[in-house]
Amino acid sequence: MISEAFDQIKYRTLAYARLALYSLESLPIQWSRRWIDQNSIPPSELPKSRHQDLLQSFESMVRKDIANIRQGLYTSDLVGPENPTQHLSRYLKIFTDSLFSSYRKSLGVNKHFSEEASVHLEDLPDYYKRNFHFQTDGYLSEQSAQFYGHQTEILFRGTLDLMRRSLLGGVLREIQESNGPLHLLELGCGAGELTRILAQSGEQVKIHAIDLSQPYLEMAQSRSYSNSNVTFQRADAETYSSSEKYDYIFSGYMFHELPDDVRRAIVENAFSLLKPGGKFVLLDSLQKDDDSRFNWALEQFPKQFHEPFYKNYIAKPLEPLMKKHFSDVTTEVAFLSKAITAKK
Ligand SMILES: C[S@@+](CC[C@H](N)C(=O)[O-])C[C@H]1O[C@@H](n2cnc3c(N)ncnc32)[C@H](O)[C@@H]1O
Repeated sequence: MISEAFDQIKYRTLAYARLALYSLESLPIQWSRRWIDQNSIPPSELPKSRHQDLLQSFESMVRKDIANIRQGLYTSDLVGPENPTQHLSRYLKIFTDSLFSSYRKSLGVNKHFSEEASVHLEDLPDYYKRNFHFQTDGYLSEQSAQFYGHQTEILFRGTLDLMRRSLLGGVLREIQESNGPLHLLELGCGAGELTRILAQSGEQVKIHAIDLSQPYLEMAQSRSYSNSNVTFQRADAETYSSSEKYDYIFSGYMFHELPDDVRRAIVENAFSLLKPGGKFVLLDSLQKDDDSRFNWALEQFPKQFHEPFYKNYIAKPLEPLMKKHFSDVTTEVAFLSKAITAKK
């Protein structure tokens, strides 16, 4: 009883401290963006009721996360804070880099690549060759891969990993409770943010993670995982084929960056890669009216960041597309994200 109360206090404090830290980190970036790019929306424009909605939804997500932690679904290295010196030194570099991305945004430049990044441009689909979020080098440099996790946490004020964890709790439990060996495939693993959570699933689980970005895959490969059975491969989720059929396929925050036809093709491909009875778990941003309190946030996002397919993404619910191929399609919402689970 006492330890339960202690855990509640500890993890709640951690989550709110994280929210405060990343909110603080976002301020100099927003101020300088405002200064460089006159079209940016000022940070103080949110009415009080919207802050209340956000805080309420944040609190219910924290409660879900604490319940998952108490059930032993993830280890402490996933939940605890990172080394402060490393964090601060990366933040200073991210702040400096944000001056350049604000400048690119002010000029409307969204297809700019350094020499290092240009090397990777060959063989990539057109929709992909751009500076998503106006980030330097898009997904195509080592620096971009090093910054991604921290940058996106600043964007979501320290709530992104919380969203991933709280949405994956149910399926992680299911996987951890299963006896036999399981094969998982992750589509668009990026720098391994979601992979780290999936790797909490135990050594009986093999995880194969694919992405289009070589630098992001290298970053993902260099990280340590609780499960030693994690492999990575450069491949396109639209065309990836394998003699292996998977028990679970995951995708995290990739679909909102895809054109509609590519979304369709990837869902179809995921279906063909699953074993009968296998599940596709798709995590991504909320879509319009998933939680109508946050429709305003979904509309604002593509105005601030280079997200050319997002407007179409929020307007076209993924559930009907999933139902075309899969059965038992369910949706769970946490803060600004949702997870759709569908069975083959
Ligand atoms: C927003 S990031 C998400 C990364 C990570 N899954 C996460 O949870 O943060 C989108 C990722 O999808 C990858 N991607 C986009 N289109 C892809 C495709 N057709 N095949 C494989 N990966 C793709 C990008 O390279 C990028 O790493």
